[in-house]
Amino acid sequence: MGMAPVIELNDGHRIPQLGFGTFQIDPEDTADAVRTALEIGYRHIDTAQMYGNEKGVGQGIRDAGLPRADVFVTSKLNNGFHRPDDARRAFDDTLSELGFDYVDLFLIHWPLPTLYGGDFVATWKTLEEFAKDGRARSIGVSNFQPDHLDRLAAETTAVPAANQVEIHPYFTNEKVRARNREHGIATQAWSPIAQGKVLDDPVITRIADAAGESPAQAVLRWHIQRGDIVFPKSVTPEHIGSNFAIFDFELSDDEIEAISGLDRGENGRTGADPDTFDYVPDDAM
Ligand SMILES: NC(=O)c1ccc[n+]([C@@H]2O[C@H](COP(=O)([O-])OP(=O)(O)OC[C@H]3O[C@@H](n4cnc5c(N)ncnc54)[C@H](OP(=O)(O)O)[C@@H]3O)[C@@H](O)[C@H]2O)c1
Repeated sequence: MGMAPVIELNDGHRIPQLGFGTFQIDPEDTADAVRTALEIGYRHIDTAQMYGNEKGVGQGIRDAGLPRADVFVTSKLNNGFHRPDDARRAFDDTLSELGFDYVDLFLIHWPLPTLYGGDFVATWKTLEEFAKDGRARSIGVSNFQPDHLDRLAAETTAVPAANQVEIHPYFTNEKVRARNREHGIATQAWSPIAQGKVLDDPVITRIADAAGESPAQAVLRWHIQRGDIVFPKSVTPEHIGSNFAIFDFELSDDEIEAISGLDRGENGRTGADPDTFDYVPDDAM
């Protein structure tokens, strides 16, 4: 099985285009799932403070026996920690939970424009400190809308390396993808298979059947050919394996277009709207 293609970020660091997501993986199952993914060939793991499983991610990487430098690790700042001092403490905690002295990418998980006086700019400047001292090789954002990206560009100097947003066939999120491109920001697509909701779609099953692949493989291949970075989540070894086996077939331009045509605009969102989302977990107050 081939390794995933690599994308160069705007700061020169390199990220595998296909990784492994860990949202909703129980902390006690995380090390096993991550080790399984690494044994299959994944070299990019996506976690977050909010998932409560950073410790298992670090453990899974150590269990796989791989050098730290061989695995690209992303984590994200929890919503309760946007104030600069809280963000500094929370980032220290991320490194100690993972058991590493750096992360490859650290993101502001949500912009929270209705909290903290809407000041995600101060939070972003705090992440710049982590990049300067080398403890975050790259820094970026998640769930940032076009106007949030424009505001960072107007008020700060460091351009986010990545913006991780919801993208799948029912919510292609072209506006954010386009603004990411304008700013030179890599697009990461979360919930790439819409947590399974797109897998029974007749357009997708037809294209998957024609390719002799599963619906999940066809959708992941669609993302890869569009150039986005993806990290499907699974605790099922068979899925973990098949989600990585997408480099021995190609979709035609017509097939890519047909899948993109399933977009339902805002109605296709499965997750929260970043303009109004203001959830702060109890353990991050
Ligand atoms: N930045 C953010 O705000 C944000 C938000 C959401 C997600 N994320 C990141 O993006 C990652 C992926 O998103 P996600 O976890 O929400 O959803 P997803 O990857 O689109 O879907 C995961 C779901 O699909 C199932 N699945 C996986 N592979 C399958 C296959 N080949 N066939 C059938 N079912 C399959 C999984 O079940 P099994 O486990 O049983 O296989 C799981 O229920 C997350 O894990 C997280 O790292 C980030």
